[in-house]
Amino acid sequence: MTDNIKREVVCSGIRPTGNLHLGNYFGALRNFVKLQEQYDCYFFVADYHSLTTHPTPGNLYQNARQILVQYLAVGLDPERATIYFQSDLPQTAELYLFFNMNAYLGELERVTSFKDKVRQNPNNVNAGLLTYPTLMAADILIHKATRVPVGKDQEQHLEMTRTYAQRFNSMYGSEVFPLPQAVGSPAGLVKIPALNGSGKMGKSEGEASTIFLTDEPSVIRKKIMKAKSDSGPTEMNQKKPEEIENLFSLLKAVSKLETVEYFDDLYNRCQIRYGDLKKQLAEDMVAFVEPLRQRILEVGADEEGLRRIIDRGKEKARASADRTIAEVRHVIGYRD
Ligand code: TYM
Repeated sequence: MTDNIKREVVCSGIRPTGNLHLGNYFGALRNFVKLQEQYDCYFFVADYHSLTTHPTPGNLYQNARQILVQYLAVGLDPERATIYFQSDLPQTAELYLFFNMNAYLGELERVTSFKDKVRQNPNNVNAGLLTYPTLMAADILIHKATRVPVGKDQEQHLEMTRTYAQRFNSMYGSEVFPLPQAVGSPAGLVKIPALNGSGKMGKSEGEASTIFLTDEPSVIRKKIMKAKSDSGPTEMNQKKPEEIENLFSLLKAVSKLETVEYFDDLYNRCQIRYGDLKKQLAEDMVAFVEPLRQRILEVGADEEGLRRIIDRGKEKARASADRTIAEVRHVIGYRD
């Protein structure tokens, strides 16, 4: 593709709240790596969003840096994609302010992720949590992105991004913003389950239920052998209960199709032994994660290389953001 043909813009980010896990990988990162081949991609570390949980100054950069290292280790390429820290783009904060003027309390209070956070942490219901969807809309629309690779849990946020884009466009009688769509796998948006039998893999289900890209083989084996299962099917072709369906989802993510079919057949004939399934899953998981873990260690050791990537990403992201902010300020009516 030549540079003078305008390519569609892709944008996504991940919060630096800990090491990346399989949910982040299969829900988002795997698509980041694919999309960078074809589109004009912006991938950032969401280190403004992370302030809702009040990290200490000593942790903030280290956490963000660790996500950057993991982006690079899984195959994001700074030659192809623009990779940057969200906080290096204060234009995002300006657009966030503009969107907040047209965001309403009722609609923000109804957002599922907000209600979850309030339940989990009733003593920290800050305005940043409430307005999380407008900051996310600003992240995406600052580059006028049309495709946003995310997992299933972000679907509602994307709907709100479209709402804020459309509201801005109609308020100012302009077509400044596109209406971006979430991108998943061909089967739809992905949800990787937790190992404890319910919910999605992630921090809120606890470390033991989550496989991180930085987990050592012995840790992965232990977590998988402890994953929730049951006493086995009692009728042929019985529907799988949630915890068993979850083990099969993980198997589908990292094992060969024949392996999935083999255990599926045993299940349907009531001959499955979950210990065998878990052992196979653990070995396939180790084979999948271990090269990534090694690469994370290598990339993380190159401080100078990382700094160059951060500086370059900042410059490229700012050029794109400056164009959008100039246009937005103009249609709002500020002096050019
Ligand atoms: P975050 O940081 O919680 O998660 C990052 C990405 O990983 C996906 N994900 C999952 N996918 C499948 N199964 C799971 N168990 C799982 N857990 C996490 C998430 O769907 C997400 O794609 N709000 C975002 C960060 C963000 C953002 C943005 C994303 C801020 N601004 C602009 C896209 C565009 C978040 O909290 O993701």
